[in-house]
Amino acid sequence: MNRLTLRRPDDWHLHLRDGPQLRAVAGFTAERFTRAIVMPNLKPAITTVAQARAYRQRILEAAGENFQPLMTLYLTEQTSSAEIDAAAASGIIHGVKLYPAGATTHSDAGVRNIEKVYPALERMSSNGLPLLVHGETVDPQDDIFDREQRFIDTVLAPLIARFTTLKVVFEHVTTRAAVEFVQGARAGVAATITPQHLLLNRNALFAGGLRPHHYCLPVLKREQDREALLAAATGGDARFFLGTDSAPHARQDKESACGCAGVFSAHAGIELYAEAFEQAGRLDRLQGFASEFGAHFYGLQLNEEHITLLREEWTVPASYDFGGAQIVPFRAGEPIRWKLSRTAG
Ligand code: DOR
Ligand code: ZN
Repeated sequence: MNRLTLRRPDDWHLHLRDGPQLRAVAGFTAERFTRAIVMPNLKPAITTVAQARAYRQRILEAAGENFQPLMTLYLTEQTSSAEIDAAAASGIIHGVKLYPAGATTHSDAGVRNIEKVYPALERMSSNGLPLLVHGETVDPQDDIFDREQRFIDTVLAPLIARFTTLKVVFEHVTTRAAVEFVQGARAGVAATITPQHLLLNRNALFAGGLRPHHYCLPVLKREQDREALLAAATGGDARFFLGTDSAPHARQDKESACGCAGVFSAHAGIELYAEAFEQAGRLDRLQGFASEFGAHFYGLQLNEEHITLLREEWTVPASYDFGGAQIVPFRAGEPIRWKLSRTAG
């Protein structure tokens, strides 16, 4: 197969940043995806509907009016029931993001004591607003490769059992344990999977030396985890859908004594998945994963337009502009087997 035409996909987990950085990266996503669930971990975090509305406007200015940013709120221990009601009524907010405080980039305003957000979760359950979860524990005693599993056992499983109608997206799952948890969970529980977790295992962090551009959170796991993720993504199960977690950081913030977590993949946000699905011999299942299952979960219409991918190798640039700084993209200087066709059809 040398051409692949798909219903236009959506990215159900994306970091767009703000200001000149937003203007530098937004076009990559808008070129490929119709919609994206936009993460709220700015500094300061997007915690109110008013902030989300203003951020949405800045995204539209950067990405063009054809792109549809689906906004989220950043859940804090202070998030009020009134704010949740306003979010549900806003028409622009599609989820509320739970960051355990300290788990990742700009998560310090996140949740320390889960019981403090029970009233907000109650409200989200009644008005159908999904909870989007960064699923890792933050105890420094927990081994970093076990934090997802520990989070399932200590936080997520009890939470899903307690709030029986809450819609939950377990974001960027990275382990076989998470795949099995989602497969066995009640209705209303789904997961996103990133391209790097489908294509790489943790050896990629240390291949010939330390590789900061492969460092993201949750960190890459073992080969058997990658295999489980690939099987889940390509298995036709509507609980698993596309979320790139493209998370740009300036080169100097990655190539540093204490480098930031995040892989930038928006420049090839659908092409990389095509590679992974081809590897599994399941290109026929890419459309469900990339363009249908997420929309069903969020209760949104399917996109009517299509994109075409060509089986044509191209070399990813060594870097892209990042509003004055540079970003080093996933596969920098290396080939990708699928290319977005810029001609219609
Ligand atoms: O690697 C990551 N980068 N994981 C996250 O959870 C946050 C993200 C970011 O915002 O840079
Ligand atoms: Zn993320």
